[in-house]
Amino acid sequence: RKYDPYRPSIQTFDLITRDASFLCAELLPNPAEETRKLALLQRLSEISAETFGDAEVLPFGSSGNGLALANADMDVCVFLNAKEGEEEVSPAEFVERIGDRLEKEPDFENVLQLRKARVPIVKLNHINGIACDIGYQNDLAIWNTRLLRAYCKADRRVRDIVVIVKQWAKKRRINNPYTGSLSSYAYVLLVIHVLQRRGVLPNLQATVEGNGQVPFWDCQGFNRYFFEDISRLSRYWQPTPESLKQSVGELLYEFFRYFASEFRYATHVVSIRKGGLLTKEMKEWTKDHTQAQADSKPNVKNRYLFCIEDPFELDHNVGRPVDRYSLFTIRGEFMRAAKILSKNGDGAIARLCVERH
Ligand code: CTP
Ligand code: MG
Repeated sequence: RKYDPYRPSIQTFDLITRDASFLCAELLPNPAEETRKLALLQRLSEISAETFGDAEVLPFGSSGNGLALANADMDVCVFLNAKEGEEEVSPAEFVERIGDRLEKEPDFENVLQLRKARVPIVKLNHINGIACDIGYQNDLAIWNTRLLRAYCKADRRVRDIVVIVKQWAKKRRINNPYTGSLSSYAYVLLVIHVLQRRGVLPNLQATVEGNGQVPFWDCQGFNRYFFEDISRLSRYWQPTPESLKQSVGELLYEFFRYFASEFRYATHVVSIRKGGLLTKEMKEWTKDHTQAQADSKPNVKNRYLFCIEDPFELDHNVGRPVDRYSLFTIRGEFMRAAKILSKNGDGAIARLCVERH
């Protein structure tokens, strides 16, 4: 490990850990909210079945991986089983049909059809207070949700760390891919990366039973294999003894310090699939380019300033929205966070998550 002159004392880490655990308890959704989400899921399943026949509605994102904060949006995905001889419903058509149907229902408000988005979705609010995005046939989103959930199960510390990092990113206004910062999904990948480096987490995409090879389980042309049966993980992988001693406070500090001063933005790519770093050259992620999209969808600007490889969709840079200006802001926030946690443990978590205006 690199020598770190700012590294705080064990006592400081203990104070941070204590406050982090209190804040987490406050931020997690209560059982009533979970119940309302389940009811909404049920309602959407009925409506999908009435509209399309054979349909399945699955939650993904934070409502599926156990990493939701209270009042988080719910992401769901609808899967249709086309009957034999029947024509498949295109994403744009799906959005139009379910959107039109939902607009007529009295318990849904602000139904918005994004038919021409890169990933077409319907956005809406349910009168029970839950905001929801409805996507279509997105298998990889379900698999990456399950991968994140497995990492969460693999070590108790993951959830607390992610919850604090999410809250920090929201309050500091660097959690919006539409304005150049990072999605929550991106932050979770960054946390997993640091925990893999610290020996807290394995690489579940490389963990295999016996001495076998990594299998290839095809999903839309990508390998969706990962070791999911966490109850049996200890047979194939052990955390390092040192990693078992690290507190949530210490790992949080380590997370911010790493992205404030160790990670080399100009050359490196975060890859939880590899369990470490790749280079931009290896991935040929060196030149920004604009990607044309099929059927008159808006072009996508691919940027490679902050490179975070999607665990399955290997040509997808999850840090794509980040531009020069937002990178400067985000790095500044990593530095601010590391500095706060290195000073005085008492009240540090509250200072870390102070709203930025
Ligand atoms: N996702 C993705 N690629 C991205 C962003 C998101 O595949 N570039 C998918 C992932 O399946 C992710 C889900 O969309 O789990 C939701 O992403 P996001 O809303 O960023 O994460 P949440 O965990 O839902 O966080 P929040 O509670 O803040 O909504
Ligand atoms: Mg979400």
